[in-house]
This record gives sequence, C-alpha cells and structure tokens, in this order.
Amino acid sequence: MAQITLDKLTKRYPDGFEAVKEMSLTVEDGEFVILVGPSGCGKSTALRMIAGLEDITDGELRIGDEVVNDKAPKDRDIAMVFQNYALYPHMSVRDNMGFALKLRGTDKAEIDKKVEEAARILDLEQHLDRRPANLSGGQRQRVAMGRAIVRDPAAFLMDEPLSNLDAKLRVQMRTEVSRIQKNLGTTTIYVTHDQTEAMTLGDRVAVMRSGLLQQVGSPMELYNHPLNLFVAGFIGSPAMNFMPATVEGETVKLPIGDVRLPDEVHGRLGGTEGKTLIAGVRPENFEDASLVGDARDRGSTFPAHIEVLESLGSELYAHFTVASEQQIESQELRELAEDVGGGEVPMAGEEGRIVARLDPASEVRVGQESELWVDATRVHLFDPEDGRNLTTDAKGPAAVDGGQGGRDPEAAPPPAETR
Ligand SMILES: Nc1ncnc2c1ncn2[C@@H]1O[C@H](COP(=O)(O)OP(=O)(O)OP(=O)(O)O)[C@@H](O)[C@H]1O
Ligand SMILES: [Mg+2]
Repeated sequence: MAQITLDKLTKRYPDGFEAVKEMSLTVEDGEFVILVGPSGCGKSTALRMIAGLEDITDGELRIGDEVVNDKAPKDRDIAMVFQNYALYPHMSVRDNMGFALKLRGTDKAEIDKKVEEAARILDLEQHLDRRPANLSGGQRQRVAMGRAIVRDPAAFLMDEPLSNLDAKLRVQMRTEVSRIQKNLGTTTIYVTHDQTEAMTLGDRVAVMRSGLLQQVGSPMELYNHPLNLFVAGFIGSPAMNFMPATVEGETVKLPIGDVRLPDEVHGRLGGTEGKTLIAGVRPENFEDASLVGDARDRGSTFPAHIEVLESLGSELYAHFTVASEQQIESQELRELAEDVGGGEVPMAGEEGRIVARLDPASEVRVGQESELWVDATRVHLFDPEDGRNLTTDAKGPAAVDGGQGGRDPEAAPPPAETR
C-alpha cells in the first residue's frame, strides 16, 4: 500500500512533443483515481511514467516517501493492467496468474495459495484449470486482473482495461473492478476516455486535456462545479448545452429568455457587463414548467417548440432550437467540440440546438409549443476566451488536489437534484 505523488511531472518525447506538462497529483493510500480525457491528451504517457515504462523528463515521482524517478519498473512494486491483456494461450488460468511469481522464484505452495486467493476474489475458482481460449471475454479480463492481484503490489495502474469488451460486459466488469478495488484497498490509477467509467468508478477523477491537468475532484465536484468549459462539456452525458449570454444589471440574457442568477453567483460576475459570455445548462436543469411546483421561483419559464422527443422510459429528452442574434466566437468551444467528438456538444448560437431532460410524466408533444423551465441556480457562465467558469467558487487544480477531496458533501445523483 502506498501513496503516489506526481510532482510537476513532464514528459517530452525525443521529437520534442510535450505529452504531459507539469502534472501534479497526489493519490492517497488506498484511493481509486480515474485519469480521463480525450484521445492523445497524455493519459497513457502519465501512467507509463508512473510504471517506469517511460522516462520522466522533468519533475519528481514519489511512491510513499521515496523518489522513484530512476527506479526500474520491477523495483517500483506496481502492477499494470493493459487494454490488451494477452494471456499465454498454452497455459492454464492458474499458470497464467502465477507466472510472475514463478519468474520471481516464489515457491509453489505460496504461488498456489496466492492464485487461489485471487481466484476467489475474482470468482474464477472453477476456471483455474481451463485455458484462456475457453473463457469468455470478461473471464479473460478477470484473469488479467488476477495476474496483477497475485503480485500483491503497492499500486495498480490500469490503462483502459475494459475497452476490448462489448458494451454489456463492460458494464458488468465496471462494477467488478470497483468491488475488487474496494475489497483489496489497493491504491489504483485507472485510465479511461469513457466518462461513464470516470463518473462511476473512482473516488476522485483527474481530467486531462492536451497534456495539462484541468481539474481533480470527486465525480460530483466535477459535475456540479466544473472549473472551465472543457470539464463542463466533457463530463456529463448528454453534454451540457451551451448558448450565448450577456449580463445586464441583475439579469442574464439568454436566447431562451432572461434569468436571474442567485445573488452570490451574480456577485462573482464583476466586469462582465455587456460582454458576450457562454452560458452552460445541463439537460436535467430544464423541466416541464407544469411539473416544477415549488422550485418555480428558482428559475424562469420560456416557450419552446419541441422538435424531437426521446423517451427511454425512465427519462425523457426534449430537443428544441432557440434563435439567437448573438454568435459565440470561441476557440475554446470549437476545441471542446473537436475533443469530445463533433455532434455531442450541443451548441446554441450556431444551430441553437438544446437538449432538455424532462420528467417522464411530462405531457409535452412534438410539434407543439410547450412551456419549459430552467433552473437559474444551475446556470454556469464561461469566459469565451479562456473558458474559465465565472460562476463557480471552486478552486484550481492545485488547490483542489491539496485539499484532498474524498466525497463531495453536496454529492447527490444529478437527476434527483432537480426533481
Ligand atoms: N513515442 C512518442 N513520440 C512522440 N510522441 C508521442 C509518443 N508516444 C505518444 N506520443 C504523443 O503523446 C500524446 C499523448 O499520447 P498518449 O498515448 O499518452 O495519449 P492517451 O491520452 O493515452 O490517448 P488514448 O486515449 O488515445 O490512448 C499523443 O499526442 C501522442 O501522439
Ligand atoms: Mg492511451
């Protein structure tokens, strides 16, 4: 067991490309931290530096109190699980799992004991004498985890371990990984670009973009208090809706109408009067106005012409467009759309598309004009130039990390908050 500290870790590849830039992060003993971000942002590079598979260009890496920059991978007491978990096809599950210990010269009785213990944790006991070819994808993935577990390392590093599995198995294994990590209590850093995994698996999530750490916090901290446009748009599905906004005195003018932000939030907007900002509203912060009840005073109502309704039984998504005279000219927003993958970031202002998640009891109809409501206490405003969230009082990555998160006291599942 150990704490892992990244102190301004930088990786510059021989061709001069900086894949990781001054990354600072402390993973507490026993903590499960998720490293998430778009393809190419430096997740694997960061993980490989921790494992010792990649030289560290600058900065310090500590495991416990010891600086390990120059230690060989095998001396770091870390086990890595990769996306391609390539098991030895000619060996039984038992031998696959015990192989590292055998190489290390551990005696047979000890190997058997460790393998059987891991098999019990992973629910693989009845498969120990089978060959990998005769196992399901999920079982093979568990064998790969078993190989890491038997080594009883100070930490696990996992690089997209579930991405080879089909969707259903992935969901199942996601729960397994979480359960196993909790049982073992081993410090774990888990890389993914799947934001559902990011939100559900770990104690804390570290969001990266272009080699830079953007924000570190509990899933709910990131969800409710994103520090910038990138984190706001990357975390959450369907993604946050973005639209142009201007502050005029006490109110914020949006294409859907005027909203009045809570006083303490409004107080943070000094100097933005008249500037075009970017407003962000999550789909679940809209509601069918007729179903809002007592919460009505917290927001504003507006007419919307519903174009598409998607009912998933437990959820109802209403799509509508809003007209706006303003255009948001934001490099940040364009990059976000590219990073997250084109169509997934609704951007009012260009086409003015908005997605609202409504109570399934809503009786709004396609083609009709409906009265919707937006929760003004949940509207975020971003600076279009640097993407900074102007409405949050959360602190930057260093401060958040230094404060060591754990769970957000405000944590509550997003849908429940508005209902
Ligand atoms: N050996 C190398 N030389 C130069 N650049 C490299 C090298 N290896 C990786 N890179 C670059 O470093 C950046 C980060 O790569 P990395 O593999 O860490 O990304 P990632 O976040 O793991 O992405 P993915 O989600 O696609 O796995 C990429 O832009 C990549 O092209
Ligand atoms: Mg990678």
